[in-house]
Amino acid sequence: MRPLIDELCVFTGNAHRELAQNVCKYLNIPLGQAEVFKFPNDNTFVRILDNIRERDVFIIQPMSAPVNDHLMELLIMIDAAKRASAGRVTAVVPYYGYARTDKKDQPRVPITARLVADLLTAAGTDRLLTVDLHAGQIQGFFNIPVDELTALPILVRYFRDKALDDLVVVAVDVGISKRARDVAERLQVPLAIVEKRREGNNASAQSLNIIGDVEHKTVLTFDDEIDTGGSILAAVEALQERGAQEVYSCVTHALLSGSASEEVVASPLRELVATDTVPLHDKRLDGKITVLSVAPLLGEAINRIHKGLSVGALFQ
Ligand code: R5P
Repeated sequence: MRPLIDELCVFTGNAHRELAQNVCKYLNIPLGQAEVFKFPNDNTFVRILDNIRERDVFIIQPMSAPVNDHLMELLIMIDAAKRASAGRVTAVVPYYGYARTDKKDQPRVPITARLVADLLTAAGTDRLLTVDLHAGQIQGFFNIPVDELTALPILVRYFRDKALDDLVVVAVDVGISKRARDVAERLQVPLAIVEKRREGNNASAQSLNIIGDVEHKTVLTFDDEIDTGGSILAAVEALQERGAQEVYSCVTHALLSGSASEEVVASPLRELVATDTVPLHDKRLDGKITVLSVAPLLGEAINRIHKGLSVGALFQ
């Protein structure tokens, strides 16, 4: 018989301690104590300092940079929790890395998003809780329950409160158009789409064509993530060439790799709104990049999973 897991514990690695602390604030529990560090030989070591025998354990760790270190920390923490007889272990991965490598779309390439799913499962994860996967189908890479939350209502609420005139939502590529349409419907404004083509495997992106009317409009672009900023900055340029008046952007995951935050700050973009699924404390925000927290969303989802309540009801 399954043991009774009536006590909730939350732990974190080194990826985003602030988010884990804010989730614990929401849940009104202390963050669990664990040592997570590297030995001089670069090996990661974990020791969970609290008794977690038969407990309902949640480990919060986005796969933010350095991705491989943070992924490895998460896997080792899960292993440590299982070996410490945790009743159930939920990996809380607000940003699921390697998600863009999710299909064999050219010869001799891996499906790393699947490999990561296998690693998490092999380590002993019982459930996954995540936010806005790059592709929803990644849920199917797991044979354990996956709860995928969306930050969309948080982003939409922000722009609804702003009440921008003559607004049109723009999907920055065809792949994101379904979710952008959802944003447009929630804001009750029209949708336009940037048709983007990427050249090879390098990071540079090129915006080609805009489907829909953006002339004299205030534009809100939507994407699941900003990495180098190449897509969004090319989209802003193309939108302005097509007569857009002001361009706002929103994304769930603001990776802002390399000099992306500086480039966004220096760009004609009016405002970028992102969530804190990955840490942004070392990025230049300059009042131009607004960060909304997913901590209450994650906290409530954890509370519901723990109590066996519906997570879907959160979005109704
Ligand atoms: C691509 O399919 C995604 O939706 C994003 O557009 C992409 O990850 C953004 O990357 P970057 O900021 O490097 O252009």
